[in-house]
Amino acid sequence: MTKPLRIALAGLGTVGAGVIRLLDTNGALIARRAGRPIEIVAVSARDRSKDRGVDIGRFAWVDDTTALAHADVDVVVELVGGSDGPALTLARATLGAGKSFVTANKAMLAHHGLELARAAEAANVALKFEAAVAGGVPVIKGLREGAAANEIERVYGILNGTCNFILSKMEAEGRDFADVLAEAQALGFAESDPSFDIDGVDAAHKVSLLASLAFGTQPAFADVAASGIRDVLAADIAEAASLGYRVRLIGLAESGPNGLFQRVHPHLVPVSHPLAHVTGATNAVVAEGNFVGRLLFQGAGAGDGPTASAVVADLIDIARGEFGPAFAMPADALLAQGPADAGDRLGRAYVRFTVADRVGVLAEIAAAMRDAGVSIESLMQRGVHADGSVLVAIVTHEGPERSVAQALERLRGSQSLVGQPLWMHILA
Ligand SMILES: NC(=O)c1ccc[n+]([C@@H]2O[C@H](COP(=O)([O-])OP(=O)(O)OC[C@H]3O[C@@H](n4cnc5c(N)ncnc54)[C@H](OP(=O)(O)O)[C@@H]3O)[C@@H](O)[C@H]2O)c1
Repeated sequence: MTKPLRIALAGLGTVGAGVIRLLDTNGALIARRAGRPIEIVAVSARDRSKDRGVDIGRFAWVDDTTALAHADVDVVVELVGGSDGPALTLARATLGAGKSFVTANKAMLAHHGLELARAAEAANVALKFEAAVAGGVPVIKGLREGAAANEIERVYGILNGTCNFILSKMEAEGRDFADVLAEAQALGFAESDPSFDIDGVDAAHKVSLLASLAFGTQPAFADVAASGIRDVLAADIAEAASLGYRVRLIGLAESGPNGLFQRVHPHLVPVSHPLAHVTGATNAVVAEGNFVGRLLFQGAGAGDGPTASAVVADLIDIARGEFGPAFAMPADALLAQGPADAGDRLGRAYVRFTVADRVGVLAEIAAAMRDAGVSIESLMQRGVHADGSVLVAIVTHEGPERSVAQALERLRGSQSLVGQPLWMHILA
């Protein structure tokens, strides 16, 4: 048979062990599909003696993970994680040594993707990262290849399974965020330090990669405005439901004449939209192309099996000799598009205030909205809480986001408000 594709595997955690299991289970089929076997020859992690549920005794063990770049292999697979540190050292050294590099590391690519893409091109080797966005869902391939003939105006979706799991559970059981987060941690759906997930940073990494692939722009993670789901109350979810919406953490990117627009925020999604029906840890991405129309990619965004499936798909492409530039066009062709001003964007909004239960509060909010030019479609006031506070939620007509920001600025410091208002965009 043809020469195998020789692999070094850095990181033997959830995904690394999953890759070993997948190649053990489907190796013969993959060899037929790829035209040659894919063989792991060397591995590295921190602790050699750890039981990983797979036999690693058959592979060469390398203590210094970054030294895998110089192993006698064709491809290094990085499944360590972290935007810098050993993952980045290994990426630079591998590409510098003229070997292909496969990773699931969205944090590293969001920060250093352009540099690494240039290094891969200079060495004429592959840099592939299907598993970095939406886990097992082939959205990178979908954008790079399937939708490559289209101008894409907008790409958006549910990019963080932990947040979607928490929001779905809050919705189904009427429970508040902190309570559900604790359960998600106990079940292993959320990290012990969950901030990257629940504050929107992980989704922001993925948005920056999707935007680059969709629009042919340089990854611009620093320009992604991000907030997470910490401030969403069970009451917001109930209010949204009564209005015909579900709350989802949406990562969104748009390219237009005024620049590149990238954001991750909780949104109200109409129940008629497919993303409203994505529940649990599932991920889903929508891309809108000018010839193909709306594409929906959906599936498991994390977990050993789905993520390993995406990693090995990249390896099969490399084994076949099928790979192009990392971001779907040569790095020098990627445009450096500046950020668009969110204030100019038109949209509808849901704004929830927690207010003191006293006369004149509604009039104060309504006046701030009127003075900033925000037109109110509906206003709801619900129940008095034990501490005497009341929830007031408004839905606006379509208008510039700048006006809502100005109204909230006018209300800043008001004695009537208890805590910060929550502003959620309504997905159109
Ligand atoms: N888990 C998922 O579902 C998922 C989905 C999509 C993408 N990803 C990405 O895939 C990558 C790996 O994730 P994971 O969930 O598999 O992580 P993980 O379970 O925490 O495994 C990380 C592995 O890296 C090793 N490692 C950590 N620090 C190291 C260091 N300084 N030097 C050498 N090795 C080190 C660990 O070694 P020890 O085992 O010896 O401690 C472990 O084997 C990350 O970039 C993540 O964002 C994960």
